[in-house]
Formats: sequence, structure tokens, C-alpha cells
Amino acid sequence: MNRLSKLFLSGMLAVSLAACSGTKSVSGEYTGTAKGMSDVTVTLTLKDSIITNVKAEGPGETDGIGTKALESLPTAMVEGNTLNVDSISGATVTSDAIKSAAAEALKSAGLNPDDYQTKAEVKKAEDIEKEADIVIVGAGGAGMTAAVTAAKQGRTVIIVESQSSAGGNSVRATGGMNAADTPYQDTNEFGEAAGVEKTLAAAEKYADHAEIQKLASEVKAQWEAYEASPEGYFDSVELMELDTLIGGKGTNDPKLVETLAGNSADSIEWLSSIGADLKNVAQFGGASVKRIHRPVNDEGKTVSVGSYLVPILEKNVEDAGVEIMYETTATKIIMKDGKAAGIEATGKTGNTVTVHADAVILATGGFGANNEMVAEQNPALKGYISTNANGIQGQGILMATAEDVGAATVDMDQIQLHPTVHVEGANAILITEGLRGDGAILVNQKGERFIDEVGTRDVVSAAENDQEGGYAWLIVDQKMADASAVITGYIDKGYAETGETYQALAEAIGADSDVLTATMEKWNTCVENKEDPDFNRTTFAEKLDTAPYYAIKVQPGVHHTMGGLKINTDTQVLNTSDEVIDGLYAAGEVTGGVHGANRLGGNAVADFVVFGRIAGSQAADYTE
Ligand code: FUM
Repeated sequence: MNRLSKLFLSGMLAVSLAACSGTKSVSGEYTGTAKGMSDVTVTLTLKDSIITNVKAEGPGETDGIGTKALESLPTAMVEGNTLNVDSISGATVTSDAIKSAAAEALKSAGLNPDDYQTKAEVKKAEDIEKEADIVIVGAGGAGMTAAVTAAKQGRTVIIVESQSSAGGNSVRATGGMNAADTPYQDTNEFGEAAGVEKTLAAAEKYADHAEIQKLASEVKAQWEAYEASPEGYFDSVELMELDTLIGGKGTNDPKLVETLAGNSADSIEWLSSIGADLKNVAQFGGASVKRIHRPVNDEGKTVSVGSYLVPILEKNVEDAGVEIMYETTATKIIMKDGKAAGIEATGKTGNTVTVHADAVILATGGFGANNEMVAEQNPALKGYISTNANGIQGQGILMATAEDVGAATVDMDQIQLHPTVHVEGANAILITEGLRGDGAILVNQKGERFIDEVGTRDVVSAAENDQEGGYAWLIVDQKMADASAVITGYIDKGYAETGETYQALAEAIGADSDVLTATMEKWNTCVENKEDPDFNRTTFAEKLDTAPYYAIKVQPGVHHTMGGLKINTDTQVLNTSDEVIDGLYAAGEVTGGVHGANRLGGNAVADFVVFGRIAGSQAADYTE
């Protein structure tokens, strides 16, 4: 519909609305406010009761998720002269707040929001056929990394994305990216000897695991050499491999782990080359040393890695001339003579979209948001909350395992619970493990610590489930908040209880005041002595002694599906006879084998960057 006919129709609608509801025709600017992640304000411009402009503002909404809703809902409201517009998936809180604030604005104009609920009619568009060298399914981190890489090798690339915006689960990644032996680690003072020794001791439990034993003896030799003459920061590719294999309980594919760790430092440099700097290095669970690389803002405070990386990847994708077809859900891999030859998809209006290509890269993420599929693999997880974006439904796995494609899967029953998920209304919000790495502790209902907070996620989640109520409080102080925009974001969004003293915090969270005070004082002594006799934590950061104190209520939630499509180190998808399916590649959480039975925090971003680059480059070579 062109703009003139739209205005005419809207005008007619307004006249009839005014006639029906008896309201007079209204012009001018009207404002309404509603609660999203924090306050969302909508300013409507009305001309003869027609919505001619909408401005939505919400400085507290989540970057890269809620901000997408702030950008796109106003346009849809103006186009349809309606408040009945589609929410942005993954940003329902912000979307609902925009609609409520717009309704308030209409009320303040003396109009009835019920008169603005007509859904704009969607007409089924023509079927579309396109061609490219490579089609990528999924515009998350892996898909966009692969696209940029392949396009830079001169290939034409189309991405189909089921959601209305890019980012998938990647935009929700908060922590950072693991990489071993980078120059950024050297800016830290080394103080994690106990972490390395703990890992070497843990390796002894895998006496029958040849790769773990080989890596342990290499790391031991490297460690002894470092201790004899310490210079810079101690880390190595082999230590990252060892941590990842032990974290995965020795069930990971060692070749994929070698590829992950061996390409991690180079991938940090690659990110830097496309404009993304991850220079701050910190401690995460299951890592022997500080290895997770994080972005910082202009004030030097750490920020969420996903909402930092995704817009940079989007810009690089755009600059490389890659087309992203949004709201286009791939349903089938086209096979010709046993080779992948494109995909079929359903477009926004229900039309069929076909992309013919010489290679297909699956980058659809895992299946963490599909609780039916999760529960099929692990019935104990039925009904569990999930940190995943709505689009993470397992489509890539389902398409590739169709009979005519024949892909194999591995470790499908390995599903990770993240121990620090905060529930706010209907939303499950990931509270980054970075807080624990930077010094936070976990206490139970009574106010007692119960676990090494920087242990692997499976262990911490299980310990939390064993506490009364199945939840815990994550405690930080003002000093930690001052160093992290992520923490201040949580506080500003109202996720934290607060107290000026340990006693006041105990009261705020309903814990025993004496118990919590004793816990905090004991913890501060552990930090001072760099020793945790109760739980054997080996990383301490700083005392939690600067008021005010904050506590965020957390519980385990489904976070990562470690299983998925079986791939080789070139990201080629393998069939059930372990043979390569020509033309079919996969990268990121859609694949299995990299993380084994438990993924370490920081290895998902490493996974999508390392294997996304390999998939893009391999598919580009294949289609040459
Ligand atoms: O806790 C986190 O920030 C999550 C990181 C990850 O899953 O890699």
C-alpha cells in the first residue's frame, strides 16, 4: 500500500473511530510510560487521531534485544495506525512495555486504545527463488562469522534467519570468549598457581584417557618451566584443551577441542581486525587461569560480550554485501546427487523461499528454547526455565537428520544448566558467571556458602538444586559494581536486593543476619589468605567489603545444549556412517562434540568464532 492510500485509509478509519467512539479528532504529541526492563517512554504524534509518528525510548532496555523492539515497533505502529503489532521475539518485556506506554499516550490524548487494535492485514507474498554460492541458516554469531569469512573470500552469501533480528543466542552471551596464550593475558599478574595444580590433580582421575594424560604431561612440563623462570602470564593451548576436556568429563572429541583451543588466540586477533576488541581478561569456572576475554566500554567497565559483538558482526556482514533474509524459517536442505544444494524456507507471509547454493552452512544454534525437545533428551528438565532466545528450536538438527540428508548426531542428551539464572516475571535472565569469577559468592536461604562458586556449571547447578528451595543468592559489593557496567545494569533493572550492611542485606533477602554476617566475614578472610578451607575455591579477587551490598536471587536454568550434529575439524557434517556429506557444513551450538558433557563458560563464543571462521572458509574453498 502506498503512503497516500495508507493515509487516506487511516484518515477514514480515524473519522469512523471518532464517529463510533464519540471522541473528537485529536492532533498533537502525547506521552505515556510503562515498565519494561526499566521505564519505557513512548511519544505519539497524532494528526486527526491518526498515529503519524512514534518515538520509543528506554535507556534501561537490553542492548541488541530490547533496543531492537524500540527501533522496530514504532515503525509498525505508524504503518498500521495500530498498537496491535508483532512483538520482537526475545524482547517481549520491552515490546509489551512499548505497547502499554503507547496505550497510555493515547489515553492522555483522550482516545481509547481499544480503537487502535486492528491488526494490519498480512497478504501472502509471492514465492521467492534466489541463488548464491553459499546459503547460511541462522544469523547468530556462528552464521555471521561464517558469512563474513566466506564473503571476504569472494563468495556470494545469503543468510536466512527465522527471527526478525540477528543475534540468536549469541546476542545474549554475557561473559566473554576463552582464548589461550594471548597478549591480553600478559597484562594480568599471575596468581593462579593453585588453579593449575588443581587441574593437574584432576587429570589424574582420567588415567585411561590417552589425550588427557598426554596433555597433562605437556602442561606439567610447561608449568615447571614457567615456575623455574616466571615471565608474563602462564597459559597454553594445551592447558585450555585440558580444562575443556576435564570440564566435558573427558567425553568431548579431542580433535575438535584441539581445533578450538589452537585457533582461539588467532580468533581474538581476527575479531580485533573486524573492529571487536576483547582485551579485559578474567576468571571463569573450570578454567585453570584467567582466560575469558571481555569487551570494555569507554569508561573501562566490562560490558556484555554478545550485545557488543553482534552489532559489529552485523555491520561487517552488511559491508561484505551479504543479504540477511529475516523472518525466513528454513525447513529443508535441498539435496542433489547426495550433495547439499540449497535450502527451502517459509517466508514471513507463509510464502515459500528457495535458495539454491553450492554449499549450505547450518548455524541455527542448539535446542535450549524447545523444552519439548530438551525433555525428550532429558525428562528431568521438563518445564525448566531457559536462558535461550526463542528462535533456538533445534531446526538445524531436525533438517540435517532428515532421511534424505542423513546427518549423525552426538551427545544429544548432554544439556547444560547454568546456575545463575534470575527469574523476573515470565523472563529467565542470565546472570553472568563473570560475577563469580570477579569475586561474587553464592549463599543459600540461610546465608551460608555451599560450593566453590567458580566450579564447573554442572557441579554448581547440582549444589544449588540441593539447597532448600533450589535457589541461591549471588552477592556482590559496590566495588564490584563500580567496575562493571553489566552489574550496574542488573541493579538498574531492579534484579538485586540491597543493604548498607551485611545485616541489612540479610534482612532484605530473608536470611539469618548472624549467619550471613559470619559468612561474609569468613569469606573476606579467605580472600585475605587466598585459601578456602571449606570449598577449596582457588580464585579470590577482592574482599566483599564495600557497602552497599547487593544480592540477586538465582536458580539453575537450561543454558546450552552440548549435543548436536557430528562434524569433523573442517566443520563438514558427517553422516551416520561417519562419511562427509558434501556441501554441508555446521558451526556453533548446532554441532556436538566440542564441549562433551559440560561446556565451560567462555567456550561458546570461542566455538562460534573459531568454527564459524572455519565453516566460512571451508565452504568458500569448496565452492571455488
Ligand atoms: O555466564 C555467562 O556469562 C555465560 C557464558 C557462557 O555461557 O559462555
